[in-house]
Amino acid sequence: MDDQQRVSTGERPLERSRELLHRATDVIPGGSQTQSKGPSNWVRGVAPTHVERGEGSHVWDVDGNEYVDYTMALGPAILGYDYPAVTDAVEAQLHDGTTFSMPHPLQVEVAELFTDVVPCAEMVRFAKNGNDVTTLAAKLARAYTGRDVVATQGYHGWPDVWTGATEMDRGVPASTADLTATFEYNDVESLERIFEAHPDDVAAVVTTPVNLHPPEDDFLQRVRELTREHGALLVFDEVLTGFRFALGGAQEFFDVTPDLGCFAKGMANGFPISALAGREDVMRTLEDDDVFFSTTYAGEAMSLAATKACIDVIREEDVTDRIAVRGRTLRDGYNDLAVEYGLADRTSATGYPWRFAVRFHDEDGDVDTAAKSLFMQECMDRGVLFSGTHLPSYSHTTDDVAYTLDVYETALAELADAVEDDEVTDRLRGDPVGATLRQRTGERD
Ligand SMILES: Cc1ncc(COP(=O)(O)O)c(C=O)c1O
Repeated sequence: MDDQQRVSTGERPLERSRELLHRATDVIPGGSQTQSKGPSNWVRGVAPTHVERGEGSHVWDVDGNEYVDYTMALGPAILGYDYPAVTDAVEAQLHDGTTFSMPHPLQVEVAELFTDVVPCAEMVRFAKNGNDVTTLAAKLARAYTGRDVVATQGYHGWPDVWTGATEMDRGVPASTADLTATFEYNDVESLERIFEAHPDDVAAVVTTPVNLHPPEDDFLQRVRELTREHGALLVFDEVLTGFRFALGGAQEFFDVTPDLGCFAKGMANGFPISALAGREDVMRTLEDDDVFFSTTYAGEAMSLAATKACIDVIREEDVTDRIAVRGRTLRDGYNDLAVEYGLADRTSATGYPWRFAVRFHDEDGDVDTAAKSLFMQECMDRGVLFSGTHLPSYSHTTDDVAYTLDVYETALAELADAVEDDEVTDRLRGDPVGATLRQRTGERD
């Protein structure tokens, strides 16, 4: 980031962003292919809507504005954008080809690499999205156990088995939705109730190993014991934690080995690939004639080359520790600033150094989107692409973090002043975060 941008405040040019959003709303339902990247997540008129290029920890929007990014594509860019070791490996593979009529040797090499570094991995199948492998895990558990019910907590994707248990269940047959039961993280009793309600019919417990709050009272160990006791499989959805909390994922970090683990973000530094890894006897169920999983691009070699290069860097360099240092400095620095500016009861950074979230709430504890939006606006003006989600990368420098904390201080000072004067909404120059696409594109109503 050059000096001019570092001191830049006030509105940045966003003409191309505005034009692209306008066109997107005509041809893309929701305006974006990924909901959490779409226009309703940002303050319209202040934040860019489309990013053109990334390098290390920085991105450039379509109008040429530069930002330090902490969302990092929602997690995949664990080493940083255009990381040379990964880009070089992909470039070399690109010239050899990406998909063939037989498996490429990288399928074997990367599967072996997984079995070396991921505790639960005795066998591995690759796919493209996190969704593919979380849903495969549920199907495989049902096939292996001959049971129907899936107990779950946390986000695992859009397929029916997951959304059937949420408020976004339109389009999911009740007969499918009824077979997914939800429990609360850190509440073993809520899981026990599912086992009681469905005796001998719970195929799997599919859970994120950790969210923003740490496991309490040996929660993960107790879930591990409960699944064994009831003959259900334990599946860790490590799409977000894999290769990030430790080389072997959260299962290594917390020392609890599931039967199956799902991986995607963080394994290939942004290239589209996912993996289901797990116990050999369970994984071999996929060899049965009446169980089917197959997709044309599952063994695509370019993403496998990216995976190999990315895992090698994480294994050989101090990636996990460096991300921890950057994340901890930023998270703790934010919380200190919130205290300093008298906002500790209105905003906080919660989570682990590798993944934390900055949240805003009002005096009653309800989510405060206006406060978040004003804070975001001040960050955007100064070149920090703030979304609330922080997934620091290996490329974030001490300078990035120091600069970001300076910007966070300015933004918190502005927020404290606006709260004091009861002007938080008035000081917004755009639509607050969370406005629907229809509200955001008022001209189309
Ligand atoms: C924990 C978890 N599981 C599954 C998914 C779905 O992965 P994808 O969006 O790659 O399909 C996500 C995506 O955010 C995730 O965070």
